[in-house]
Amino acid sequence: MPDAKVGEILVQPDELAHRVSELAEEISADYAGKNVLLIGVLKGAVFFLADLMRQLDVDCEVDFMAVSSYGVGKRESSGTVRVTFDLQTDIRDKDVLLVEDIIDSGHTIASVLEMLNLRQPRSLKVCALLDKSERREAVVPIHYRGFDIPNKFVFGFGLDLDEYYRNLPFVGVVDLEKYKPPS
Ligand code: IMP
Ligand code: MG
Repeated sequence: MPDAKVGEILVQPDELAHRVSELAEEISADYAGKNVLLIGVLKGAVFFLADLMRQLDVDCEVDFMAVSSYGVGKRESSGTVRVTFDLQTDIRDKDVLLVEDIIDSGHTIASVLEMLNLRQPRSLKVCALLDKSERREAVVPIHYRGFDIPNKFVFGFGLDLDEYYRNLPFVGVVDLEKYKPPS
């Protein structure tokens, strides 16, 4: 246990690596013979996306977008999503795979999918490392899912706790009683 704020380790580094390989294999098979454009939602998805993309066996491009839904100190999605950084790529007629770190209420990804669909990609699928399915409020298709996790606030492997700890190699549950925000 690195320190007190980690209440519990939910997904260990070797389990993450193993699951990422399985997802990469599945995606490579599904997109065989095609080019795929991976879209990462900043910032949390960057870590998962980088690992996943390096194991894909298809020709792929990558682009990023950022949306805001959570603010520092908040633990709940507001339901209102704003694009703060847009794609540099025209996705029209492309096979697009949207990569997310976690789907919680689903509001973020539902809004992003709606926006991207207006740009007329050839196909649009979703790959999420973590799914807090019991918290779902919006209808979201998840084509590739890493792990279904319980309704707990998690961090590490790209996910932040007040913008820190994205670099941790595991997914942990925060112990809110022992956690003090970095100053
Ligand atoms: P949603 O709109 O409720 O689905 O929230 C999705 C976004 O909220 C994710 O992309 C994350 O950035 C953030 N988020 C949701 N749950 C967690 C969590 O447990 N830890 C860290 N970030 C989270
Ligand atoms: Mg995110």
